Amino acid sequence: MKKQIVLLPGDGIGTEVMDSAKEVLNAIADEFNHTFTFSTYDIGGVAIDKHGTPLPDETTAACKEADAVLLGAVGGPKWDNNPSHLRPERGLLGIRKELGLFANLRPIKGFPTLLHASPLKEHVVDGSDLLIVRELTGGLYFGTPSERQNDGQSVVDTLAYTRKEIERIVDKGFQCAQLRRKKLTSVDKANVLESSKLWREVVEEKKAQYPDVTVEHVLVDAAAMKLITNPAQFDVMVTENMFGDILSDEASVLTGSLGMLPSASLREDSFGLYEPVHGSAPDIAGQGIANPLAMILSAALMLKHSFHLENEANLVESAVKAVLDEGYHTADLNILGNGQKVGTEKMTELVVQF
Ligand code: NAI
Ligand code: MG
Repeated sequence: MKKQIVLLPGDGIGTEVMDSAKEVLNAIADEFNHTFTFSTYDIGGVAIDKHGTPLPDETTAACKEADAVLLGAVGGPKWDNNPSHLRPERGLLGIRKELGLFANLRPIKGFPTLLHASPLKEHVVDGSDLLIVRELTGGLYFGTPSERQNDGQSVVDTLAYTRKEIERIVDKGFQCAQLRRKKLTSVDKANVLESSKLWREVVEEKKAQYPDVTVEHVLVDAAAMKLITNPAQFDVMVTENMFGDILSDEASVLTGSLGMLPSASLREDSFGLYEPVHGSAPDIAGQGIANPLAMILSAALMLKHSFHLENEANLVESAVKAVLDEGYHTADLNILGNGQKVGTEKMTELVVQF
């Protein structure tokens, strides 16, 4: 299989962990006889410095031509006081919008070795393996009006969705469930919100198209509680933008370190942008100690969702698990105590070997 991949390393540890992902992908290409071609473009702070904009046109154009995009992280103290159009985050929001990526997937899996790295009790985290499918381009964050009114004495934000927007994300949720344990939890606030009533209606309508998937509806407040009292009950959770934003951060405490969490941003076709959940970690950048696993697991998501290379993706995931099981860990997973602490390069080498 031949694939063209655009790399957007960005800032801080983004560049360090991107090298790791590339190394792992090269190893996979060798092992399975694929040809992955990489081209690297600027985004975020580095793009501001070099091109005077966080999202140069050539970066957008290259992404549109590619089969998939890997992104490291953007941002850092150097650009914190920039005016808002010259902020690194603008690059990130801009590229998601330019590419029409409406579905954000965050798999949250408690690796057995890391059970006690979570602040939650081990027996609670044990067996948790869920996927949050968050709507990324609609809802409260984009609805208009969103403004102060009456001389600043009142304020309005708008939670707007079209039926079509709900249908495409709900379809994505069902499709993901079909590839996993075939259970879909739709999270809404249908007892109060009109938008949630339409959401629930769409899920009920779509059910017939996916007869192999079991569906449940859970109100968002109850979902927040269940997520940290009995996370193992969830397989795929599909929800609107803001609920997904909040629930996915809540769910991240199940895994123990930000350095472990990958994500995928998708649309209807197989194209996608894949990035770790963490930021550019300026506090440890340049020291060679960043945990590359979130970035490596993001590359595995790319193999699965954009290239439909299930075996290759599984191999990467099982290599990560094996390395952790052996007790190897980066400094952020220090909680493992008796294992062996390694840097970014060594961790990558270990994953490639397994
Ligand atoms: P952060 O995720 O960069 O770091 C939070 C803490 O986790 C730090 O102590 C960091 O050292 C640690 N950490 C994160 N990833 C790690 C890894 N792979 N290995 C080891 N330790 C890791 O979030 P923070 O500090 O709030 O933001 C730093 C910069 O990153 C800011 O400029 C922020 O705007 C940007 N940011 C960018 C994101 C993106 O590009 N998607 C997401 C979040 C923040
Ligand atoms: Mg968030």
